[in-house]
Amino acid sequence: MVLPRGSSGSGGALRGRSRRGLRLDKDWSGAFLLGPKSTGPMAPAKQGYAPMETVRLARHGEVAIATIDNPPVNALGQALRTDLARTIAEAGADPAVSAIVIAATGRAFIAGADIGEFGKPPVPPLLPDLIDAIESCPKPVVAAIQGAALGGGLEVALACHGRVASAAAVLGLPEIKLGLIPGAGGTQRLPRLIGAAKAFPMILSGEPVAAGKALELGIVDEVTAGDVVAAAVAYARALAAKGAPARLRDRTDRLTAADREAFEVLAADATKKSGDMPNAMALIEAVRAAHSLPFTEGLAKERALFTALVADPRSKALRHVFFAEREIARIPGIGSEVKPRLVSRAAVIGAGTMGGGIAMSFANAGIPVTLIEQQQAQVDNGMNRIAAIYEMSVTRGSLTPQKRDERLALITPAVGLAAAAEADIVIEAAFEEMSVKQQIFSELDAVAKPGAILASNTSYLDIPTIAAATTRPQDVLGMHFFSPANVMKLLEVVRPDGVADDAVVTAVALGRRLGKVPVVVGNGFGFVGNRMLEARTRATERLLVAGALPHEVDTALTGFGFKMGPCAMADLAGNDIGWRSRKSRGKTAAVADAICEAGWFGQKTGRGYFLYPEGARTGQRDPEVEALIGRISQEQGVTRRSFTTEEILSRLLDPMVNEGARILEEGIAARPGDIDVIWLNGYNWPAWRGGPMHWADTVGLDVIARRLEAQAAETGDRSLEPAPLLRKLAAEGKGFADLKAKAA
Ligand code: 3HC
Repeated sequence: MVLPRGSSGSGGALRGRSRRGLRLDKDWSGAFLLGPKSTGPMAPAKQGYAPMETVRLARHGEVAIATIDNPPVNALGQALRTDLARTIAEAGADPAVSAIVIAATGRAFIAGADIGEFGKPPVPPLLPDLIDAIESCPKPVVAAIQGAALGGGLEVALACHGRVASAAAVLGLPEIKLGLIPGAGGTQRLPRLIGAAKAFPMILSGEPVAAGKALELGIVDEVTAGDVVAAAVAYARALAAKGAPARLRDRTDRLTAADREAFEVLAADATKKSGDMPNAMALIEAVRAAHSLPFTEGLAKERALFTALVADPRSKALRHVFFAEREIARIPGIGSEVKPRLVSRAAVIGAGTMGGGIAMSFANAGIPVTLIEQQQAQVDNGMNRIAAIYEMSVTRGSLTPQKRDERLALITPAVGLAAAAEADIVIEAAFEEMSVKQQIFSELDAVAKPGAILASNTSYLDIPTIAAATTRPQDVLGMHFFSPANVMKLLEVVRPDGVADDAVVTAVALGRRLGKVPVVVGNGFGFVGNRMLEARTRATERLLVAGALPHEVDTALTGFGFKMGPCAMADLAGNDIGWRSRKSRGKTAAVADAICEAGWFGQKTGRGYFLYPEGARTGQRDPEVEALIGRISQEQGVTRRSFTTEEILSRLLDPMVNEGARILEEGIAARPGDIDVIWLNGYNWPAWRGGPMHWADTVGLDVIARRLEAQAAETGDRSLEPAPLLRKLAAEGKGFADLKAKAA
C-alpha cells in the first residue's frame, strides 16, 4: 500500500506526526498491517498506517513489505535510516507479521550511505545501529534487490537473513573508490558469508558484481528473472517456517585456517602494490579482524578505521570528485526540458591521429561514422593506422577479432566534404589554422543537412570566428577531444554565444554515449584545460631559467601524484607543437625554443628535455640540455639557485590556480568543480588531490594569494598577481568550494 509521500496523517492510530524527529503514539505499532483477509497480492493497509517519507509499507499475507522510495538512488540519508529503523521495530514487534521483505524502487536498491553526510556531525539512527537492528530482528528479514546494492546498501542486505536478487541487479562495496572502507559491517559480514579470500579482493577493487556472479560467490541466495519482490516474499516465508533466523555475525564456518592463509597471501600482495593507500591498508586490518577478533570487536575496529578515513583529506578529495563529476551534467541556463537532437550517423573531417581517434570513439560506441580526407592516400593512411590500433588490442586480448571487424565496418573512408551530407554531426579535426577551419566550415555549410551539428575539435581557436564562415552559427560549437581520442575521457564541449541550447545538449549526450566525460566550457583561448596548462608551461620555463633542472621539476610533480612531469610530457607530445603555436602567436620561451632549434623535439627524435637512447620511453638527464639551460640563465643575467620541492610545486601549481580563478571570473567554467573534473580526466591530476581548485582550498587561498604576490614581485610578471576573485575569496577567508555553494 502506498500513501502519498509526505502525507501528514492517515487517521486511525496515527496521532503524532510521523516525520523525522517527531512523536508517534504508542498504539501506532503494527496498525499499518492488514488483517489476514487481505485481497490483492500486495494489499494496501486500510487503516492506521503512519506515512513515512522514504519507505512505503504493504503486506502480503503475513509478510510485511517495506519498499524504499528515496530518489534518486535510495541513499541511506537520515530520513531513510529513520524510516527503515521504524519499519523494522514496528513490523518486528507485530504478532501478525512473520517475516519482512526490504524492497526498493528505482535504479538502485540502495546506493549506500549518503555521501553528502560524511564529515558532518552524525545524526541518529546511525547506519551501524540500523543494520544491527535488522540483523537482530527476531523475524527473518529478506532483501529483494532489484538494482544496485552498493556500499551501505549491500551492508543492509548482508544484515538481512536472506538475499534475493533480480537478474539485472549489481552488488558491491565501492567505498575504496572514495578513499574509505565499508563502515557498516561489510568487512566483517562479507568474509563470514563467502570467506575473506573472496571478500577481500572484491572490496579492494570496489567493482560491483552482477547478480549471477553474486549467486556464484554465495552473496545472494537466489536470482530471479521474474518479480523479485514475489520471490523474496516466498523466500521469507520459507525462512519463517524454519524458525529463528540465522545471523551472519554468528557464522564462522567460512573463516577457516585455509581461508586465513589465502587471505594473507592476497594481503601481502596488496601491501606491495597499494602500500601507500591508507584505505587499502585499513581494509587489510579490518578483514584480518574478521578472522582474529570476535564479531563485535571486529565491527568496532572497522568503524574506527572507517571514521579515521572519513576525516582523511584524500577521502575528502575523492568525495568532492564524486559530486563534481555528477554536477557537470547540470548545464547552467539549460533545463531538462531541452532534449538532444537525434544522432545516428557522424562524420569526422581529418584522418590524422586526432580524427582517427575520434572516428574510433564513434565506432567503439556502435555509431556509424564517415572518415573524410582530401585525398585517397591520406584517408588510406588514417584507416591503416586505425586498423593497426585495433589489431594491437586483438593481440593484447582486449578485443575479439569479431568486434574488431564490427568496429572497422562502422568506419567508412571517404574523400571530399560532400561525404558529410548524411551526418547528424560533423566533427572537424583538421589542421589547427583558422583559415583552414573557415574554409572547411563554409563548405560544410553547403553540404551538411539542416540541423546537423557542426563541431570543431580545435584546441585553441575562436569558435564564433569559425561559425561565422557558416549561415548556421546556432549549430556550431567546439568538441575538444584529448589525445589519444579513443582512450582519453575528457571532452570539452565549447559553448559559444549564439549556439542553440539543444546543440549543446546534443554534444553532451553524444559525449556520454562515446564514454567520455563531457564538460561544457565557454569560448576563450585554450578554453579551460589548455589555458591552465599553458600557465604551468610558462611556470616550468621560469623555473628552468631561475635554477631548477628538468628532472627536478618533473620529480616534484610526479611526487605530487602526476604520472608525468611537464618536461617528460612535452617530450612525449612533441616539443615542436608548442614551438609552432608560440611562433604563430609571436611568443617566445627561451629554453623551450632553444631545445627545438637544436632539433630536439622529444621522444620522436630521441632527445628533448631528456635523452631517450634507442627508443627508450623514460628519459635520462641530458648534460647538454642542462648546460644549455645554464647558458640561457647567464644570458638573461639570472644567478641560478636551487629550489625545494615545495617551492617548485608552488611555482608550478599556484599560477594554474590563478588562471582557474580568472576562468571562473570570466564564466569560461561554470563551477570550480568543472575545472577539477577537466584536470582529472584530461591531464592526469591525481584524483586523491581532488583537482587544482579543490587542492587550492586545502592549501588555503590566502596562502596561495601570498605566494603568488611574492612570485609576481620576484619575477616582475604581472600575470602572476592574484586574480581579483582569488584575492577576494582569500580576504574573506573563503575557498572556491564556498563559491560553488553560493552558486547552487
Ligand atoms: N550518496 C549521496 N548521493 C548519491 C549517492 C550516495 N551514495 N549515490 C548517488 N548519489 C546521487 C548523485 O550525486 C546524483 O545526484 P544528482 O542527480 O543530484 O547529481 C544522483 O544520486 C544520481 O547518481 P548518478 O548520476 O551516479 O546515477 P547513475 O544512475 O549513473 O548511477 C549509482 C547510480 C550506480 C548508484 C551511482 O550513483 C553510484 O555508484 N553511487 C555511489 C555508490 C557508492 O559509492 N556507495 C558507497 C557509499 S559509501 C558507504 O556506503 C559507506 C558505508 O560503508 C558506511
